[in-house]
Amino acid sequence: MMTQKSILLLGCGYVGEFLGCHLLKEGWQVFATTRSSSSQPHLKELGFDPVLFSRPEPLDTITHVLSSIPPSQEEDEGLSFLIKQKKVPSWVGYLSSTSVYGDHHGDWVDENSETRGETPEGLGRLKSEDAWKKWAERQECSLLIYRLSGIYGPFRNVLQRVKEGKDDPKTRVPTHVFSRIHVDDICTFLVKSLSLSSKFSLFNGADDRPASFEDVRGYAYSLLGQEVPLKKEKEKEKEKEKEEEEEEQVRSSFSFLKENKRVSNQKMKEFIGEDLKFPTFREGLKDIFEKGLF
Ligand SMILES: NC(=O)c1ccc[n+]([C@@H]2O[C@H](COP(=O)([O-])OP(=O)(O)OC[C@H]3O[C@@H](n4cnc5c(N)ncnc54)[C@H](OP(=O)(O)O)[C@@H]3O)[C@@H](O)[C@H]2O)c1
Repeated sequence: MMTQKSILLLGCGYVGEFLGCHLLKEGWQVFATTRSSSSQPHLKELGFDPVLFSRPEPLDTITHVLSSIPPSQEEDEGLSFLIKQKKVPSWVGYLSSTSVYGDHHGDWVDENSETRGETPEGLGRLKSEDAWKKWAERQECSLLIYRLSGIYGPFRNVLQRVKEGKDDPKTRVPTHVFSRIHVDDICTFLVKSLSLSSKFSLFNGADDRPASFEDVRGYAYSLLGQEVPLKKEKEKEKEKEKEEEEEEQVRSSFSFLKENKRVSNQKMKEFIGEDLKFPTFREGLKDIFEKGLF
């Protein structure tokens, strides 16, 4: 008799829920941690087995573990949780972030690029990646580190922000590009990666086309059949006079604007062996718009 494969989702948020639902359909048993007992009924409704993060029971049947827990200042809490478990799974994945690369002045970065992360986010991620690597080496289990760029998808996207009146024109810096990836493409990659048996694998997660907020917002407003809200006349004049100064101020107010880079997805695409379902934000947003997922 084939034993049922089981995965523990350490932290089950946006990506965790998507992946878990997909794996349930493929016959996996899905355990998912939460810090809040009030989230347990929701996880149960999805068909997951909820695990209270503060009171873990031994999870001896688990073969795979994926951590979505962001680093905290002291430690990687996902890793600490796993260390307390007696059984070592055969496969472990850690969802990291492309913030580890830091600022590359708009150049392309791949998995071999220098990690220049200087923001607390970037530094925390590097520390966590290192801790996961050392632990996996000691335990001799297979570790995947997946460095994600901006995650979007149903109900987490610019159309949603516009609808909720949360579109923030302050973050407009036309020369600043970001990479992003649709949650469906993240799941496709992760599902395939669950059979990876190499000791250590590192992949970036991004789509084909890094783009500025301006471009993405512009496209979102065009889908909605609305004009992109213009800045007020006074603001426009000021902008002309002090464009560079203002950009600098904006950059220093938002840590994600301190880093400008384009994230290569070549290795990820070669591994998947096919094109992304949503190669750029245009296909992704169009699909979300047409299905009303905002
Ligand atoms: N959003 C982006 O654009 C982006 C970009 C790059 C990388 N990432 C990273 O990729 C990962 C997956 O993203 P996501 O959007 O799916 O994340 P998410 O929705 O924030 O889910 C993470 C889950 O982890 C749990 N968690 C958070 N802090 C914790 C802690 N200190 N101890 C225990 N559990 C904790 C939370 O669940 P409970 O509250 O139920 O415990 C939360 O739902 C995250 O690490 C995220 O930071 C995100």
